[in-house]
Amino acid sequence: MSQHLSNGYLAQLATEFGTPLYVYHAEKIKEQYAKLTTAFRNSNTVFFYACKALTNINILKYICSIGANVDCSSINEVKLALHAGFPSSRILYTSNGIAFSEIEEAVELGVIINVDSLSNLEKFGVKYGHSYPVGLRLRPNIMAGGNLKISTGHDKSKFGIPVDQIDRILELVSKYNIRISDLHIHTGSEIKDVEVFVKGIEVLFGLIPHFKHLEFIDLGGGFKVPYKDGDVSTDIDLLAEKVNESFAEHAIPGGKPLQVWFEPGKFLVSECGYLITQVNVMKETASTTFVSVNSGFNHLIRPMFYDSYHHIVNISNPEGAEKKYAVVGNICETDTFAWDRPLNEVREGDFLAFYNAGAYGFEMSSNFNSRYKPAEVLVLDGKAHLIRKRDQFEDLLRNQIEVL
Ligand code: LLP
Repeated sequence: MSQHLSNGYLAQLATEFGTPLYVYHAEKIKEQYAKLTTAFRNSNTVFFYACKALTNINILKYICSIGANVDCSSINEVKLALHAGFPSSRILYTSNGIAFSEIEEAVELGVIINVDSLSNLEKFGVKYGHSYPVGLRLRPNIMAGGNLKISTGHDKSKFGIPVDQIDRILELVSKYNIRISDLHIHTGSEIKDVEVFVKGIEVLFGLIPHFKHLEFIDLGGGFKVPYKDGDVSTDIDLLAEKVNESFAEHAIPGGKPLQVWFEPGKFLVSECGYLITQVNVMKETASTTFVSVNSGFNHLIRPMFYDSYHHIVNISNPEGAEKKYAVVGNICETDTFAWDRPLNEVREGDFLAFYNAGAYGFEMSSNFNSRYKPAEVLVLDGKAHLIRKRDQFEDLLRNQIEVL
């Protein structure tokens, strides 16, 4: 687990911009991207940032500027990516159970598309035949990922077309002469074990000979990042080695080398982000000392939703004596961030920084309890830029129509 922005600097930002505050460190994103491109330097591999993790337009622009492509999960993400300056050839739209009209819109915008159902594949064939290439999101029936909520490739998952329906896929491809350019799988998030990717490649290699127009295979995202000291992350160098080995062992039909694509979300932006909160209230009870911060699962849902661990640092008192606390939010529902957590002595008014808050932090936030969403700050070249204002009262009424 690495920290790039110092406690003192984070505390200064908290004072300057107020809390709760999301802070992102651009250079950390660049460093993570460089780890990927360095590891895969000897292979024909392209990385698409899974922007569902964090879509602030400045983050998208920055990621575009460092050379990564972008993977989208809604037509609006596609439009944000275009707005950020990605050309359509660098935008991938991996769809899930979407209305066909969204696929039509994506074709009009000229982006790369993966379809994930026989139903949309057939509609695609009827409308576009061979005229527009399309990828297939497949369900490889592999169990992977940090927990069931973020496992997407197993045999009960809604995602992708099950590989056991290959005959039906081939019938449609042949009936409408569909140009399949890519086979895609994404088996889950927080995959530590690189063998999972190898297994996925094995499944795809069994299918590749059926498709004459393939240009790439897409192995999705899901690289694990460290959340606490001693935590392992996906060994990217080993992954690169294994991917190269697998490709060397399998002859590609027609001898045409296939490009390999990945769609990392967390790997690029998890560690760049911090959520800084301020302690409202200390509450001593017979069993527990509660620290109530000015945030909750309305701002960072991961601990309550996935039981995720986020490292927490008392950046106002980093030398204080360690004690154990329950860190909770201030919304009217149980919203425990951490239980029995050793922290440097906490006092009312202290700033607590939550690590690994870049991915699926702000992005999954809400206005629950009619609280404001936090502001966001981007630190780039040593300078802090406000990249989203904190909500204001009018934002809570925006789009509401007062009929009474
Ligand atoms: N590609 C596809 C098709 C995906 O569905 C996802 C994530 C990714 C790539 C990127 O996965 P990553 O590299 O970020 O693990 N909200 C959850 C994670 C859900 C991931 C959903 N799909 C969390 O906070 O843990």
